[in-house]
Order: sequence, then structure tokens, then C-alpha cells
Amino acid sequence: MAHGYTVAVVGAGLVGERLVAELRRWDFPLGELRVLARSARRSVLAGETFEVGVAEPDAFDGVDYAFFAGTEGEKGAAVQLAAEANARGAVVIDNGSDFRLDPEVPLVVPEVNAGALEGHKGIIANPNCSTIQMVVSLAPIAREFGIRKVVVSTYQAVSGSGRGGVEALENGREDVYPKPITGNAIPLIGGVGEDGYTTEETKMREESRKILSLPDLPVFATAVRIPVHTGHSESVYVETEREADLSEVLEVLSSAPGVSFSGDASDFPTPLEAAGEPGTFVGRVRVEGRAISYWCVADNLLKGAATNAVQIAESLVSVKV
Ligand SMILES: NC(=O)c1ccc[n+]([C@@H]2O[C@H](COP(=O)([O-])OP(=O)(O)OC[C@H]3O[C@@H](n4cnc5c(N)ncnc54)[C@H](OP(=O)(O)O)[C@@H]3O)[C@@H](O)[C@H]2O)c1
Repeated sequence: MAHGYTVAVVGAGLVGERLVAELRRWDFPLGELRVLARSARRSVLAGETFEVGVAEPDAFDGVDYAFFAGTEGEKGAAVQLAAEANARGAVVIDNGSDFRLDPEVPLVVPEVNAGALEGHKGIIANPNCSTIQMVVSLAPIAREFGIRKVVVSTYQAVSGSGRGGVEALENGREDVYPKPITGNAIPLIGGVGEDGYTTEETKMREESRKILSLPDLPVFATAVRIPVHTGHSESVYVETEREADLSEVLEVLSSAPGVSFSGDASDFPTPLEAAGEPGTFVGRVRVEGRAISYWCVADNLLKGAATNAVQIAESLVSVKV
């Protein structure tokens, strides 16, 4: 494509801004870049000034790829506009949760299941931020040793709740979290279901099962919001099918796609170091027979959202599916 693809970013919030930056940074053959939101205005995103347009059906005329990063639900951008974008020829890559578990929609982390893009029907879902970093680190373990059970506790940054979450931490905005976030840890992300799990915890279970093609995998998640600006951390415990020893696990993780790994137990990754980086960082690996424990960190706005979405588009462009 001589002049590059016409791309629309829907949503000018934290993820929308990172999408603009990532589309400029990676090798994506970008032509025109449009930013759409609920209201028209002039906005500076990632240092670039945009005449933000209104997200409405005709705004997708001529668009090849549409990245959705608006709000979710019946009145959200993706539910209202993804089909309109498809009808105008655009492939939709959606950051929200509306289509992730739809059997017709591929849910993709390119290092793990790029093959799922084949035969897509116009909408591709980007997984939940906590899920992405977990499956990037779980997939090589699953391939090498098989996995029987996952127990995970998360330590999630406020930027995972969008601009509102950042305002709660920085300005004390009170309507975002059920309890104050400053100096606190809140073990409730999303609504609580009848089984006692929150929506975030259920997403981690169901989305991991779909991406890893392990529909019955037991995944016990506890998702916790902490007063960190950007970068989600996870303590992951995996039970494997076959016994592993530490050196084998270190070898598997150090050669795993998308994983930045230090085998040195004293060299652990933290959110401050992961923020602004595209990868998934793993450290503190411990192995006992069929039990592997480790610590995993990634930028929730990058690998957890924008970077993964742009990697999906790059996979589509490179294999032309
Ligand atoms: N933050 C994360 O770490 C993260 C990670 C993975 C996935 N996600 C998902 O990514 C999406 C965006 O999250 P965010 O953190 O960027 O949120 P945010 O900072 O709150 O920004 C939301 C943006 O969406 C726009 N918007 C809302 N409804 C819209 C509609 N109907 N049509 C067009 N634009 C609309 C808003 O437009 P106005 O500015 O005009 O109000 C705003 O610019 C959400 O679905 C979220 O679940 C977020």
C-alpha cells in the first residue's frame, strides 16, 4: 500500500492517546490518522494536535482500521459503531470487553494466538489488560510443561480505570472507587457476580481460557487496585502437568516471545520500570515440582491495551487476513 492505511482511533482518553503514540512508533504503514470522540474539539494527543471528530457512522468512510477505545456497554462506542465501521470496509480492533467472549470474534495476543486472526469477520477483540500480561507469561509454560491450574493476585494501577482513576489518585476524585485509593488497596475491580468473583476476575478466567484454548482451565483470580499510576503487577502461581526444574523454567521464560526476563532473583521488575515500555516483565521465579510461582509486570496502557492492539493490526497487515 503506497500511501499507508487510513486509521481511526475512537476515544481520546488514556488508551486513545497511547494508540496515537504507538501507531507512530511501530512499523505500521500509517497514512491518514483520524481521532474521534463524543464531541468535536481540538486536542493534543501524544504531542500531536488533532481536530477530533465526532464518532458517528460517516466518520468511518474510507477507514481501513478502526481502533476503538471509548466506553463499553449498550451505549458505548463499539456496540454503537463497530458494525457501521465494518459496513464501510474498516476492520475493527476493540479495546473494550463487549465482544471478547463472542465465539465469532477472535481475542488475540499476537505472541500467543496470532493464528486466531485467520478468517476473522471484521471485529477483533483486544483482551483485558491484566489478562494480556498473564497469558504472555503463561503461554510458554503451557506449551512446555502443560498447565492444570492458575492462581493469580493482581496489583493494578489507577490508569486502568482511565482518566477518572488518575484523577482519583492525583486529585482525590471520590466517585471512581468504592473506598479512597490513596494509601489503600481495594480488592474490588468491577461489579461482583453471584459467584463472588468481580467482573475483572471473571474476565481473567474466561479470556485466558479462550486465548490459551484451554476451555476448562481453573483460573482463580483476586484483582486489587493499588495507588500506582501506571503498570499492573501480578503474583502468579501455576500448577503444571509435568514436573519442571528451575533451570528449565528459566530457559523457557528467557526465550519466550514478548517476555523480558531476568533470572536474577534480586533483579525484580516494578511498575515504575515497566511504565512506558512495550513488553511484559517477569521475575522472582520459584519452582517446586509441578508448582511455578512468579511476578509479572506490564504497562496496562501499552501491552495491556495500545501496543497489543497495534501488534494485532501489524499481524493482519503482514499476513493479509
Ligand atoms: N486504561 C486501561 O489500562 C485500559 C486497558 C485495556 C482496555 N481499556 C479499555 O479501553 C477503553 C478506553 O479506556 P481509557 O482508559 O482510555 O478511558 P478514558 O481515559 O476514560 O477515555 C475514554 C474516551 O472514550 C471516549 N468515548 C466515550 N464514549 C464514547 C462514544 N460513545 N463514542 C466515542 N468516544 C467515546 C471519551 O470521549 P470524550 O473525551 O469525548 O468524553 C474519552 O475520550 C475502555 O473500554 C477500557 O475498558 C483500558
